Amino acid sequence: MSEPLKNDRFLRALRREPTDTTPIWVMRQAGRYLPEYRATRARAGSFMALAQSPELACEVTLQPLERFDLDAAILFSDILTIPDAMGLGLSFAQGEGPQFAHPVRTRADVDKLGVPDMDGELRYVMDAVRTIRRELHGRVPLIGFSGSPWTLACYMVEGEGSRDFATLKAMCWNEPKLAHQLLDTLARSVAAYLAAQAAAGAQALMVFDTWGGMLGPAPYREFSLRYMAQVVDALKADAHARELPVILFSKGAHRHLSAMADTGCAALGVDWTIDLADARAAVGGRVALQGNLDPAVLRSNPETIRREARAVLDSFGNHPGHVFNLGHGITPEVDPEHVKVLVDEVHAYGRVVRARA
Ligand code: CP3
Repeated sequence: MSEPLKNDRFLRALRREPTDTTPIWVMRQAGRYLPEYRATRARAGSFMALAQSPELACEVTLQPLERFDLDAAILFSDILTIPDAMGLGLSFAQGEGPQFAHPVRTRADVDKLGVPDMDGELRYVMDAVRTIRRELHGRVPLIGFSGSPWTLACYMVEGEGSRDFATLKAMCWNEPKLAHQLLDTLARSVAAYLAAQAAAGAQALMVFDTWGGMLGPAPYREFSLRYMAQVVDALKADAHARELPVILFSKGAHRHLSAMADTGCAALGVDWTIDLADARAAVGGRVALQGNLDPAVLRSNPETIRREARAVLDSFGNHPGHVFNLGHGITPEVDPEHVKVLVDEVHAYGRVVRARA
């Protein structure tokens, strides 16, 4: 049904197998820093029209692969497709963050929510996965993704982006049962969503927990980690998804790396606030690590970008199980030429690191 992979560095690294050099992809690699992305988005009319067209979503997924020697593609979509499919009414104003017409605030709001139909409201996502897999012709593996239950709940309860998502935090303190009901519905939805992406052809799965790190240690375990663990467990029981490596990424939560590895996931995303050597020590080689260059480095100059990329590779050292990435998404003002500098340096210096005793 599908062509054999021509470049399996990324999947090998996630399995902690040896590779010729370090694989790299970039969070938000298809995005506004690319003029060709901005052109396709303008043609689509809106971000959601772009995401809901399998052909256009495929087109922008492939754009960064045409420019750079990346080792993985990531489905072009958004984490907020699940709440949108639940009926919350998602929109993105140009240049602004996401907005929901119907935020979730009361028990009646939570009671109304169910797991969306993966062949109904979310079919466009699975169609995009199938289209991208076909058009990739086995060049590199395709990553499917979802938001974490906690991070989805942040946007659903706040109704928009926020500095601190205090509305959901207040629900956790005032009505913990209600918060848990919401998070459980989301965990079942995220698991079904990722399993459907696996069935449609995704070859690795990533969970973005962008806002887990703003919780204290005990609330992080209770409201964020616990539901990601529920998702990992459900995927291990799924006929398609059980074969796929799962990457968990809680931004700003490196103190929890060891507990995250206990979920049984294959890999952990790491932001730039910890050295990879220390992150490796924390997980004891149980999982692969993905990261962790500060995205702001891409706003510097080629010489600095090469030096900082080498520092990340040196920190991880000559071990299997490193996927190079930024510690968070690339930002719109980055010069695309700087991404080329980064990708080429990671591949060149990754070979040097591997040649070390
Ligand atoms: O990585 C990729 O190339 C795949 C596509 C992808 C998008 N969003 C496309 C997008 C992925 C993996 C995401 C994940 C996502 N979306 C996260 C988790 C990762 C992270 O960055 O923390 C979050 C929190 C969101 C929610 C979201 N989507 C916000 C807050 C915004 C607006 C702010 C922004 O960065 O533009 C979006 C919109 C969005 N999602 C854009 C893109 C390319 C820009 C929309 C546009 O073209 O106007």
